[in-house]
Amino acid sequence: AIEIKIDSIVSKMSLEEKIGQTAQRGKSSRVKELPPELKEAVRKGQIGSFLNIMNKEDAKELQRIAIEESPNHIPLIFARDVIHGFKTIFPIPLGQAASFNPEIVEKGSRIAAIEATTNGIRWTFAPMLDISRDPRWGRIAESAGEDPYLTSIMAQAYIKGFQGKDLSSPNSMAACAKHFIGYGAAEGGRDYNTANINDNLLHNVYLKPFKSAVEAGSATFMTGFNELNGIPASGNQYILRDQWGFDGFVVSDWNSILEMVNHGYAKDEKQAAEKAINAMLDMEMTSITYQDHLKTLIEEGKFSEKQLDEIVKNILRVKFKLGLFKNPYFDPDDSVLYTQEHLDAAKLAAIESTVLLKNNNNILPLKNKRKIAIVGPLADAPHEQLGTWTFDGEKEHTVTPFDAFKKDSTFVVSFARGLEFSRDKSTKGFQEAITTAQKSEIILFFAGEEAILSGEAHSRANIDLPGAQEALITELHKTGKPIVLVLMAGRPITLTNIIDKVDAVLMTWHPGTMGGPAIKELITGNVSPSGKLPITWPKEVGQIPIHYNHKNTGRPVIPEEFVSMDSIPVGAWQSSLGNTSHYLDTGYLPLYPFGYGLSYSNFTFSDIQISSKEPKLGDTIIIKVTVTNTGDRKAKETVQLYFRDMVGSVTRPVKELLRFKKLELKPNTKEVIEFRFSTNDLSFYGPEKNWITEPGDFKFWIAKNAHDTSNELNISIIE
Ligand code: IFM
Repeated sequence: AIEIKIDSIVSKMSLEEKIGQTAQRGKSSRVKELPPELKEAVRKGQIGSFLNIMNKEDAKELQRIAIEESPNHIPLIFARDVIHGFKTIFPIPLGQAASFNPEIVEKGSRIAAIEATTNGIRWTFAPMLDISRDPRWGRIAESAGEDPYLTSIMAQAYIKGFQGKDLSSPNSMAACAKHFIGYGAAEGGRDYNTANINDNLLHNVYLKPFKSAVEAGSATFMTGFNELNGIPASGNQYILRDQWGFDGFVVSDWNSILEMVNHGYAKDEKQAAEKAINAMLDMEMTSITYQDHLKTLIEEGKFSEKQLDEIVKNILRVKFKLGLFKNPYFDPDDSVLYTQEHLDAAKLAAIESTVLLKNNNNILPLKNKRKIAIVGPLADAPHEQLGTWTFDGEKEHTVTPFDAFKKDSTFVVSFARGLEFSRDKSTKGFQEAITTAQKSEIILFFAGEEAILSGEAHSRANIDLPGAQEALITELHKTGKPIVLVLMAGRPITLTNIIDKVDAVLMTWHPGTMGGPAIKELITGNVSPSGKLPITWPKEVGQIPIHYNHKNTGRPVIPEEFVSMDSIPVGAWQSSLGNTSHYLDTGYLPLYPFGYGLSYSNFTFSDIQISSKEPKLGDTIIIKVTVTNTGDRKAKETVQLYFRDMVGSVTRPVKELLRFKKLELKPNTKEVIEFRFSTNDLSFYGPEKNWITEPGDFKFWIAKNAHDTSNELNISIIE
């Protein structure tokens, strides 16, 4: 029925109006009043969507004009980057991925939709599903990290949450899976940079989360700024429609059609429009090459009006699904912002996203230590803890760790920032920080990166603690007081220079509005940390790219035989330090592997059973494992199932995450969990350009992280 309605509308539209549907415009925030030309364009049906219209009255007025005065009364769709919360801010997506808990992610994006739609936003530019294997890249903060399976699971959770059970409900937003495709493979981690990804890697790694976004019903997609293998992403829709049957619409990134001229793929704006429209890129964000050239391109026969009709239908289909034809207006209801339920959910998300990386002598949780020194540039930095892409989060509503601790009378809290902000190089606050530390039993040092150091265009060549933070940690270490390093950052931080000077490390990412109370619950031990790294944590920037699911090479490191450069005395004659794939100076291991994260409790895996050691192709395989909490407190553990296809017609990674399960257990209790999958789930995109599972030997590991090989199973799949 929707298609009939859409056809009928399209049949009545003029060419100008059809072109108008492809246009997404913004209004500069510097301009107070709605410019009359903008209203006039809406009146003529020349605009299909707006982004970043935050004045509710403006949004209402524009919609009123579209509905009441434009030729075919087609509603506008208002969009914004609501990435990890609207007002109530959740941890950055890289942090949420560390929760390994899709329920938390779904709840967070549902809340984001409930809040944002009260401002008329029915379309968010999220989730970002770019596989990110280079922590120098600023946008890694917005991703789910390096793994295609984890990213796919998170993709589905975000989309379910944003779009709700019913996309036409006034509090649902259309999701936008971005950036299609390969943006995360930007060379050297420099934003907007070229991506070269071979076909095999593209299908087996980069495309997977996007396929799962289509399956989850993502209403829209966005192209990337990057070029992929020589073709700018905005000029190449690839398999999205032909093979995956996506029936929503695709929007360009900001000016990315126009930027095809800079890429050297189009000689001018007109040719850029021609290439993008022929790639069936439906909507143009901000630049106006379609508006200026589509009519001529159609007149010249370089594109047909019939094809344009398909594009318009894609856009109208989403507007119909959103219920905008029936209910184009929104209810500006501020009472749904920052509700207790939303704050509690944000706190839980921050708790489950936090990863305990180090905990020497079980210094955490704080036991009888009451006199605490809170130090560091991020201890009381409400805006910074919100992280990247938080246009609407407000510092007045943010609770910092210092706020949370000072309210608790069980602690005697003294505070010294030490450094004004993370990049501060001045040592003038050092003495105060040292004196504060000396009067206390333990130092909680809040370090990391300000929000602006990650995100779009915010790549870093070094990913160490900026400013004088390392120097301050070094000085504090001299006091002899134990140091708990609490990190807030949009990426893994290289810690080699200071890791031995701190007793514990908690990675909280940028934890959002409720970061402070969440961190306090963890440090005091009301809750045990349960986050796991969604990305390999390098020791040094020179190790990048480093990810767990790499290929084996012909000369893999044999751990028992590995000789470190440091173990050979200087001057001693040594003809070789081994001929395997490693660095002489940093070896072959990261600081922490993918999937890693400590708990205050202990878990064991036992009674591992597999349904068949020789399954046939197409069979279902069930692996059962008993998980026991052998520690002394209630805690959550994420059981991870990895596999390796030992021989392939194209080589396979040394390990791939196949499934995971997060569960909570009381002390001395156990639960049997089950992983169920088909041999088809072990397939890969092979040399014949299709998905295949090849019979042969496979290894499986039930593990606590990607380097944990203690529970290994061998199976052979037979034809
Ligand atoms: O959604 C973003 C995109 O991810 C990067 N460029 C700008 C867009 C709109 O703000």
